[in-house]
Amino acid sequence: MTDILIKNGKIVKSDKIFIGDILISEGKISKITDKIKKRENCKVINAENKFIFPGGIDPHVHMHLPTFAGYSSDDFYTGSKAALFGGTTTIIDFVTPRKKQNLPEALAERKKEAENCLTDYTFHVSPIDFYDNLESEIKTCINEGITSFKVYTAYLDSIGLNDEKLFKVMQIIADCKALLTVHAELGNDIETLRNNFFAEGKTNPEFHALSRPPETEYKAVEKIINFAEKTGCRVYFVHVSTGKSAEIIRQAQEKGLKIYAETCPQYLLLDDEKLTGNFENTAKFVFSPPVRKKQDNEKLWSALKNGTVLTTGTDHCPFLYEQKLLGKDDFRKIPNGAGGVEHRMSLLYTYGVLQNKISLTDFVKITSVNSSKIFGLYPKKGEIAVGSDADLLIWDDTVEEKISVKTHHQNCDLNIYENFTIKGKPEYVIKRGQIVLSGNKLSENIPYGKFLKRKL
Ligand code: URP
Ligand code: ZN
Ligand code: ZN
Repeated sequence: MTDILIKNGKIVKSDKIFIGDILISEGKISKITDKIKKRENCKVINAENKFIFPGGIDPHVHMHLPTFAGYSSDDFYTGSKAALFGGTTTIIDFVTPRKKQNLPEALAERKKEAENCLTDYTFHVSPIDFYDNLESEIKTCINEGITSFKVYTAYLDSIGLNDEKLFKVMQIIADCKALLTVHAELGNDIETLRNNFFAEGKTNPEFHALSRPPETEYKAVEKIINFAEKTGCRVYFVHVSTGKSAEIIRQAQEKGLKIYAETCPQYLLLDDEKLTGNFENTAKFVFSPPVRKKQDNEKLWSALKNGTVLTTGTDHCPFLYEQKLLGKDDFRKIPNGAGGVEHRMSLLYTYGVLQNKISLTDFVKITSVNSSKIFGLYPKKGEIAVGSDADLLIWDDTVEEKISVKTHHQNCDLNIYENFTIKGKPEYVIKRGQIVLSGNKLSENIPYGKFLKRKL
């Protein structure tokens, strides 16, 4: 493998920014100093005036997710290709077993499905029921390198857990010293609201949001924090969408509980106005939790700034318009989800850093470093440090583009960020020491990504 020398970049770490050179050998960062001499057989990249960021880690994606509407439209190959275009070099997806399937078997199947993933990857594994063997299955998964387990308090008819089962699962996760990641919504309340709206002939996508009001999220968050206090389970809330949830999480953190939170660009940049209009224009904004108010967007930016919310994922889960059409006359039948893995870093840079909502060091923390630390990937991933994997972005902050379905790389004919301007994207993406993207072109023969075994 050819060495790479990156010269004169503005290196952004989680605690400082400095100008320097980075030498990459055998897939790892081997040296970082002010000046490194060029050696033989070494490709040199001049990064003068360019930022160098750690490759992005997206802790929340759903590639090839089976649903009643068919699979989400990106598989691991197409979705990870889109991720690389946007500067994300590691993804964390999910293992959702079929009913009665044991977790290690489901994990093995999912690893096979992910073999053509171009980014590195790992999974949160989902217990979708409580049964005698669960603890031993969770321990087997931990031995296989899984340290986080995902539960849903919504979707109670399929993969969700009721309170009694949730509490028991949290006791096991706490005993195993693993991390519980949670989709927090009150499934029963939502089901009642959905069915009432439908019975009243209220069938448009806007009723998707109205049947999942803010309290169905923050009351679930409150309940789970209460369970966390009783069980000692460490909890990571995925896709936090309301300011109120962030406030409740902050209070729990101040009490010393090990509670972490993630939000997504859609909850920072989109609001419920997106759901007014006809089906054609609004169905793509149906995802859960739903879009909220502009005030929530602002509160979530503040929560990112003050460290209540430590990470950003995308919940990448695109569906084609023809799949969304299944719910033309019934919002309950619109598959929930939207794509975004390609845009996360550019959106957070443009609307976060350039609008002074977050600093550059915050940017690398919320797009990479914090996920690496929380999910047991540190310091291999997420840090620009000697010995870490050479997953690096050389960032072009001179570009200005509009996001569009015509130019995006995800496999979908919809884009929830259509027409958003981005100012900044990767000029080079280096993954494990190999240039995988330069000047908006993917390299040929990119090696497949690796499954990342994590440690507690
Ligand atoms: O609407 C969404 N978010 N779909 C993907 C599954 C989930 O709930 O995260
Ligand atoms: Zn979810
Ligand atoms: Zn999700």
